[in-house]
Order: sequence, then C-alpha cells, then structure tokens
Amino acid sequence: MKIKNVKLYKAVYRPEDIPQTPYNEVAFVGRSNVGKSSLLNTLANNFKLARVSSQPGKTRSINFYLIDGKFFLVDLPGYGFAKVPLSEQKRWRDLIESYLKGRDRLKGIFLLVDSKVGPTEKDLQMKEWLDFYGIPYVVVATKVDKLKQKERRKLEERIREGFKNNSIKIIPFSSKTREGRDRLLKELSHFLES
Ligand code: GTP
Ligand code: MG
Repeated sequence: MKIKNVKLYKAVYRPEDIPQTPYNEVAFVGRSNVGKSSLLNTLANNFKLARVSSQPGKTRSINFYLIDGKFFLVDLPGYGFAKVPLSEQKRWRDLIESYLKGRDRLKGIFLLVDSKVGPTEKDLQMKEWLDFYGIPYVVVATKVDKLKQKERRKLEERIREGFKNNSIKIIPFSSKTREGRDRLLKELSHFLES
C-alpha cells in the first residue's frame, strides 16, 4: 500500500461531534507521548501532518485524516498522562470511549506501546476494552531505536508477558529509522480488507 494524499478531515473535541463517515477506518491509541503523531507522519511521509511534541498531551482532539479519498486514519488523544488535570483526563477518556463504542466502520486498532516503558496498567485496560468489544488490534512497540541490543532481544517477550497474551501480534517500530513502516502498512491493508 502507498499513501499519497493525506488531508485532515476533522478534529473532534466533544463526543457529540464525532462524525458518521462513509469510509472504513483504522485508529491509533496509546499513552500520551508514545509516538502516535510521529508514527502517522512517518506513514504519510509528511513531517508536519500531525503535531509532534516532547510535551505530553499535545493531541487533545480525535483527528480524522482522510487517506487518498478512500479511508480514514484516526489519531486518538493519548491517555494516562499524570500531569494533565484529572478533569481533562476524564474528558479524554470519555471522548475515546464514545469513539470506540459505536464505530461500525472501525476495522482495526494499532495499540502503541513505548518499547522502553513496556505495557502499563492503562495499556492493559485498553487491551481488555478492545478484547471486550471485539475490535481487532495489533501492538506497535514504538521508539525501538532507543533500545540496547539486549533490551531489543527481550522486547517481544516482555510485551507479551505484560499483556499476559502469548499470541499477540507485535510490530517493532521507529519513526527515527522508519523500521517497521512496511509491516505496519501491510497490517493496515489487512485491517481495511477485513
Ligand atoms: P501526544 O499527542 O501527547 O499523546 O503524544 P504522541 O503519542 O502523539 O507522541 P509524539 O509523536 O508527539 O512524540 C512524543 C515524543 O517522542 C517526541 O519528542 C518525539 O520526537 C519522540 N518520538 C516519537 N517517535 C519516536 C521514535 O521512533 N524514536 C525516538 N527516539 N523518539 C520518538
Ligand atoms: Mg499526538
């Protein structure tokens, strides 16, 4: 699959503004600062598409990107950043849950996990949520360029342990080196064809 044209279709801040769209979509979820926006930019070969920041909590809206006029990639706000006020965290969670609940055309999720940090309690909750609602997902281990060789060898085992699931699909990924980009595009095609 090649991605040529990416357009921000809509940025949504409130559950009631989530659009019904005529296309299939695949979404990205993960902790704040895990590298969602960077990953989207890497897929789209466009470094200014989604806002990247070293300050967690940058993406506050659900962003719907229309890809080549055919499907949507959806960037969800990052969860679980402790320094964001609780009221704001709750607002994000409500927004994310409203989105995930009623999405007929949501074909799959990329669940991003920071490969240095491993799955957190919040990631586990998200996974259980996805299992419960029967939404297919693949785990993307981000920022693998930061790992030492030994950490790298143990990466998948650690993530599977963390998620208590031995059959989970994991894609090691880096926006810096672009490792994993092709595999991700392949999984994206699978989701969209399913
Ligand atoms: P929020 O929008 O706050 O939820 O964050 P996000 O998940 O969109 O993360 P973002 O892409 O903004 O990246 C957060 C920080 O991690 C930035 O400083 C990025 O430069 C850095 N980063 C993202 N991807 C990688 C990667 O593959 N390797 C390395 N070394 N750093 C990365
Ligand atoms: Mg972001």
